[in-house]
Amino acid sequence: MNTFNITSAFQDASWIRDMEDKLNRKMAYAIGKAREAGCIPYTTDGKAWKDNPIGWWTNGFWPANMWQMFRMTGDQIYRDEAVRAEQMLDAALQDFKNLSHDVGFMWLIQSGVRYALEQNQDSFDRTLYAAHMLASRYNPNGFIRAWNGKGREGWAIVDCMMNLPLLYWATEETGDPRFRQIAMNHADTTIKYFVRPDGSCNHIVIFDPETGAFLDNPGGQGYESGSSWSRGQSWALYGFVLSWLHTGETRYLDTAKQVANYFISQITDDWMPRCDFRQPAEPDIRDNAAGNIAACGLIELARALPELEGKLYFDAAIRILKAQEKDAANWALDDPAIFTKCTSAWHDIPGRHMTMTYGDYYFIEAINKLRGDNLLFWYPNR
Ligand code: GLY
Repeated sequence: MNTFNITSAFQDASWIRDMEDKLNRKMAYAIGKAREAGCIPYTTDGKAWKDNPIGWWTNGFWPANMWQMFRMTGDQIYRDEAVRAEQMLDAALQDFKNLSHDVGFMWLIQSGVRYALEQNQDSFDRTLYAAHMLASRYNPNGFIRAWNGKGREGWAIVDCMMNLPLLYWATEETGDPRFRQIAMNHADTTIKYFVRPDGSCNHIVIFDPETGAFLDNPGGQGYESGSSWSRGQSWALYGFVLSWLHTGETRYLDTAKQVANYFISQITDDWMPRCDFRQPAEPDIRDNAAGNIAACGLIELARALPELEGKLYFDAAIRILKAQEKDAANWALDDPAIFTKCTSAWHDIPGRHMTMTYGDYYFIEAINKLRGDNLLFWYPNR
C-alpha cells in the first residue's frame, strides 16, 4: 500500500521558509526573556514570561520547543537552553509526590529526545524514572489515575492518551512489557468510557477506585458534562495515532480516525477550533492549542493511510495551521509568546485567549514535520 507522503504533498515552500524565519527570530528572543526571568516559561504576563512553579505539567514543552528549534536550525543556543530547563526540572523529580499523570509531557519530549540525540545516561535515567512514576499510577481496574488529592483516586482524563508514549518508550528501551500493557489497558478503557459513538469524547471519567465501576463524567475543562472540549478531542486524536504507531493495533488507528472525522466535522469555516465544540454561540472562545495539537495528529494520521484517504486529513491540518497562524500568531519581537488565543478551560475566564508554550510547541512540531524532519518527539527511539 502506498501511504500518503506529506513532503511531496506539501508544495508551499515559501510559507515554510517564512515560518522558519519567523520562528527562529521569535524563539531566539524568547530565550533571552526566559533567562532574564530565570524560569521555565509557560505563559506571559504582559510581555514577559510569567514564573511558574517547577513541577507544573507544562514544564517539558519549553525544552521541547528548544529541541524542535535545534532540529530546525542546528543552532546550539537552542540545545543549551533545553539543557538548562531539563536540569531545572530535576527539582520536580525530587518532589515526586506532587507529580501527576503528566510526566510524559514533562520528560519524554525533552529528556527522551535528548537521550535519542546524545545517548547521555542522565537523560535516559530521568525518562525511565518518569515512566516508573506513570506506571505506579495504574489502577488494576484498567485506568491510570490522573490527578492527586483525596477523593480523586478514581479520576481518569482523556489528556492521558498523550502520556502513554512514555510507557511504550519504557518497554521498547527495557524489554519489560508491563509498561506497554498498562498503556494499552488504559487506551482500551479510554475507547470504552471516553469516546462516544459520534467520535466526541468525555474529558473526565470517574471510576470507583475499588471496583472500576463507572460513576460519573463531569464537564472538566469544557462547557459541561456531555459537551465536547476541543483540546480533549485533540488529545484523543493525536494520542490514539501514537498508540497505533507504538503498537500497530488497528483499533487505535480506527479510533483516531473516528475522533478526527468528528473534529473536522465540528470545525467552523474559519478553521479555528472553539474551546468547546458545544459551547454557546457567545462568547466566541477559541483554543489555538487544540488546533495545533489536532494538526499534528492529523498529519501523523495522514502518513499512516493510503494516499486519497490521507489527503483528507492532511488538507484539514494545513487549513488549521494556516488559519490559526494568520489570525492569532504574534511575531512581534517585544513579546516572547506566539499564539494569542489559547484557552485553559471554558469556565476559567482569565484563562481565555492566553498564551501557552504548548500551544506554540505543537505549531513548531507541525512545521518541522512539513520540513521533512522525521524525528517524532513522542517516539524518539523509533
Ligand atoms: N492537560 C491539561 C490541558 O490540556 O489543559
